[in-house]
Amino acid sequence: MEETHEIVLTVNGTHRTARAPARRLLSDLLRHDLGLTGTHVGCEHGVCGCCTVLLDGAPVRSCLMLAVTAAGHEITTVEGLAAPDGTPSPVQRAFRECHGLQCGFCTPGFLCTVTALLRDTPRPTEEQVLDGIAGNLCRCTGYQNIVRSVHRAAELLSEREGGA
Ligand code: FES
Ligand code: FES
Repeated sequence: MEETHEIVLTVNGTHRTARAPARRLLSDLLRHDLGLTGTHVGCEHGVCGCCTVLLDGAPVRSCLMLAVTAAGHEITTVEGLAAPDGTPSPVQRAFRECHGLQCGFCTPGFLCTVTALLRDTPRPTEEQVLDGIAGNLCRCTGYQNIVRSVHRAAELLSEREGGA
């Protein structure tokens, strides 16, 4: 029988423990062991960005990372972006408002990527937006509404910062 390891990590602010083989991918741990199926898996080799989650605040492709290497770190998945009472985050609101999704398969990855992008670059230029989302692929939208969503999210975040 395959050896398993205890993996303790913080996911969306909660300490979680799972036992998994050393080769378990973080994406599989999140989806299959912890039941967080909001993280989607598309290409499974680091190209599409669907599986993007935040590791200590930085976007990572969870299909390229072994779960054991995430032990002791803080992971944020799409399920952790909304407020504790379920209120969507400004980025989530902007994607809804600007129709930044169609089938939604790519959306969890975009939401995590854009959340980190706007934290680091609160008022991005068009070029910074395009550069920031370049690692996430979407087969449906043609990206225009996603780009609009990012700019709108920046507005919503700045309104929130301003207390509006
Ligand atoms: S599923 Fe991870 S990058 Fe495509
Ligand atoms: S909305 Fe369908 S892949 Fe992006």
